[in-house]
Amino acid sequence: MSPSALPEGEPAPEDGSLPASALAGVAGRRLSAYVHVPFCASRCGYCDFNTYTAAELGAAPGASRADYLDAVAAEIGLARRVLGEAPPLSTVFFGGGTPTLLEASELGGLLAALRDTFGLAPDAEVTTEANPDSVTPASLARLREAGFTRISFGMQSAVPHVLRLLERTHTPGRARDAVRWAREAGFASVSLDLIYGTPGESVADWRTSLESALAAEPDHLSAYSLIVEDGTRFAARVRRGEVPLPDEDDLADKYELADSLLSASGLAWYEVSNWARPGHECWHNLAYWRGDDWWGFGPGAHSHIGGVRFWNVKHPRSYATRLSQRHSPAAGRERLGDDDRHVERILLELRLAEGMPLAVLTDAERGRLPEIIGRGWLETRGDRVVVTHEGRLFVDAAVRDLLG
Ligand SMILES: C[S@@+](CC[C@H](N)C(=O)[O-])C[C@H]1O[C@@H](n2cnc3c(N)ncnc32)[C@H](O)[C@@H]1O
Ligand code: SF4
Repeated sequence: MSPSALPEGEPAPEDGSLPASALAGVAGRRLSAYVHVPFCASRCGYCDFNTYTAAELGAAPGASRADYLDAVAAEIGLARRVLGEAPPLSTVFFGGGTPTLLEASELGGLLAALRDTFGLAPDAEVTTEANPDSVTPASLARLREAGFTRISFGMQSAVPHVLRLLERTHTPGRARDAVRWAREAGFASVSLDLIYGTPGESVADWRTSLESALAAEPDHLSAYSLIVEDGTRFAARVRRGEVPLPDEDDLADKYELADSLLSASGLAWYEVSNWARPGHECWHNLAYWRGDDWWGFGPGAHSHIGGVRFWNVKHPRSYATRLSQRHSPAAGRERLGDDDRHVERILLELRLAEGMPLAVLTDAERGRLPEIIGRGWLETRGDRVVVTHEGRLFVDAAVRDLLG
């Protein structure tokens, strides 16, 4: 996970050590690894992820690909020392940026370092994100050989004017080719990301994108409404009145269309923005949503170990410099109190199709539940509370009202 703005928090110790309370029992819990690759060929106007083009990084020492690879390898060693008796990794996820701007051998090298240092659980899910135009049949075959089991392509749309507004560099057909190549290379699970609500996108355009994605027969699909992130070129265009803000009713219609076409094709929703063929849910994201432990490697990456959240310095140069001086790259951290963990649990678990145990709710929350159920947003199923079909569109409001 690597949102671009870092939160406030207390300073993190230079040696990266964690409180004994966070480490207690770590060997008996599940552990995931996220590796943030902060490089992109060009910056899409809507994206505020922590990523840099070659022109932005320049030729100054400390920010090269080689520096990055050395620094992540050093952070892997540091994580091992800090965690002590850690379990083998249940999931590994390389995200970006554009991980596949690195050579398959470089990604494979980092994966091997994680495997040698922590071990991988049997059946570990090992994912990389990829831009459709950053892979070839040969590079996909090398990623498979290196141990990647799952790949997620940022397709976004199949409509030329939408791709243009999003400043995507690939053609509409490239994502479908990439899915076919990934299958031929032997990937067991292939996912596509789509974005809806781009200004100028009609409902018919969105249907075209969904149908085109489904024609590629992905195992998993994420559909996100376009978020206007402060500080992006896209936000500046909205502010200048060049493009309209996404319209709520239009977004609701498009969500409904996505859900009906995807479920009719055998992709069931398991989180508000995610659908999968049974058995192809993303275990890495489920680990975040269920509050497991994960270590985020790389510039700006966030980690969570036993109720302590910490996050790395953002810039690749500061990140590499810290590690070359044998310092932790963590910029700050926060300890989640019981109340924080409770709120977080409701926020994340109510977005899941499985919902959450009623027993987790406080008396006050249980008191507010009937009113929200009356509105048709939540329902109880046995001893669990789950979001309804209609409620999926209002899940943030449902959570807010439940928390009071
Ligand atoms: C950060 S990207 C990394 C993947 C890869 N670089 C790509 O673009 O294909 C991960 C996903 O986040 C989503 N995303 C990024 N910025 C977004 C925004 N402002 N609104 C909605 N979705 C966004 C896109 O769907 C994208 O595929
Ligand atoms: S390629 Fe992906 S990570 Fe890079 S700028 Fe575009 S959306 Fe963001």
